[in-house]
Amino acid sequence: LDNGLAKTPPMGWLSWERFRCNTDCVNDPDNCISEKLFQTMTDLIVADGYATAGYEYINIDDCWLEKHRGHDGKLLADHQRFPNGIKALSDYIHSRGLKFGIYEDYGNFTCAGYPGIIGYEQEDAFQFAEWNVDYVKLDGCYSLPHEMDLGYSKFGKLLNSTGKAMVYSCSWPVYQIYAGIQPNFSAVKTYCNLWRNYDDIQDSWTSVENIIDYYGNNQDLIAPNAGPGHWNDPDMLIIGNFGLSYEQAKTQFAIWSILAAPLLMSVDLRTIRPQFKRILQNRKIIAVDQDPLGIQGRRIYKHKGIEIWSKPIGPLFNNFYSYAIAFINRRSDGTPSDISVTLKELGLIHFYGYRVEDLYENVDYGVLYPNTKIKVKVNPSGVVMLKGEVQLPNEM
Ligand code: DGJ
Repeated sequence: LDNGLAKTPPMGWLSWERFRCNTDCVNDPDNCISEKLFQTMTDLIVADGYATAGYEYINIDDCWLEKHRGHDGKLLADHQRFPNGIKALSDYIHSRGLKFGIYEDYGNFTCAGYPGIIGYEQEDAFQFAEWNVDYVKLDGCYSLPHEMDLGYSKFGKLLNSTGKAMVYSCSWPVYQIYAGIQPNFSAVKTYCNLWRNYDDIQDSWTSVENIIDYYGNNQDLIAPNAGPGHWNDPDMLIIGNFGLSYEQAKTQFAIWSILAAPLLMSVDLRTIRPQFKRILQNRKIIAVDQDPLGIQGRRIYKHKGIEIWSKPIGPLFNNFYSYAIAFINRRSDGTPSDISVTLKELGLIHFYGYRVEDLYENVDYGVLYPNTKIKVKVNPSGVVMLKGEVQLPNEM
C-alpha cells in the first residue's frame, strides 16, 4: 500500500500471543487486556531501550471492546478495563513518542466474539482517525473469504479517506487460503501494508518451525510480493516467553529478519530475561530486517536438517548486492553441526570480495572472496548469522 507508511517492516509490540483474551482484571489485574497493560508496556519500551532500537508501535489485539456497540452504533472500549477510553490511551502512547495500533475484524464479530466492522465500516474508519490511531489490524473471523477482495479493499479506501495515515494490517490472504481461494496478491499489496499468510504463531518451537517451513516451501509465490510499503507477516515474535530456548529464539529472530518480517514482540517486558532482550535489541540483525531495499530473503539450501537462508541487502555495488545469510540446524542429533561452503555457493560472486562478519557473535572474518570456503558450527535448533558486505574498489 502506497500510503507513505511502513517503508520498512513495522516494529513494535502486540498483545495477542502472550496476553491473549485475558479479560479477568479482578483476579489477574496485571495481565488482563486493559489500559494499564498497554501503558506499562509503553513505559518499558521506552525505558528499556526498545524504542531506540526501532520498536515504535504499541498495538492492542482482540478483546478490548464491550460486547455491544453503543446505542449510536459507536465502538465502545470495555469501560472497566479501559476506564479512560481509547483516546486517552492513544494520547498516553503518543506522549511517550510512540505510535498506537488497534485491532478490529472485517466480519460480524472478532474471533473472540466482540463486535466486527460489517455495516459500520465508515463510522469505524473515522472513529480510528479521531482516536489518532496509527495502525489498524483487521482480522477476518465471522466473514466470507470470497467477499474479502471487496471488503478489505473498501475498508482500506475508507481508512485512506479519513486523511489520517494508518498502517493497514490485513488477514485477507490467510482466510482465503484456508477457504481454498488463491489470494489476489497484487490486490492485497495494493491495499495493505502487511498481511498474514499462514497460521497463528503459538508459544512453541514446533509452531516456529511450521511457519519457517511454510515461508520456505511457498517462497516463490510469497517472497516477490514484499517490498517497501507492503510486507508478508509471518506473525509475532515469541522470543522471551516460555516455549523457545535461547538458540531457538535466536533462530526466530534471524529468520524473521531474513523474511523482512514485521517485528512485533508479544512478550511480557516486565519479566523478560536479559539474554532474550539482547536478541530483540540486536542492532545488526534489526538492520537486516529494516534494510531499505526491502527484499524478502529466501531459503537457498535445505538438506538433512540443515538450511541456509539468504537475503539481498545494501550496500549495492554495480548490481551486486550484499547479503545476510542464516545457517540453521534442525537436526535432532543433539550436537552442533559444521557447515562449510564457499562464498560463491552462497551467491556472493563479486571478485572484489565481501567483508564478512557474524551478526550474533563478535567475529569479523575480514574480506573474503568467492572461492573462499567459510566454515560455521551451528547448534541444534540454533543459527549462525553472517553478513557479507560487497567491497567497493576504493576499499580494496
Ligand atoms: C486470529 C489472528 O490471526 C490472531 O493474530 C489474533 O488476532 C486472534 N485472531 C484474536 O482473536
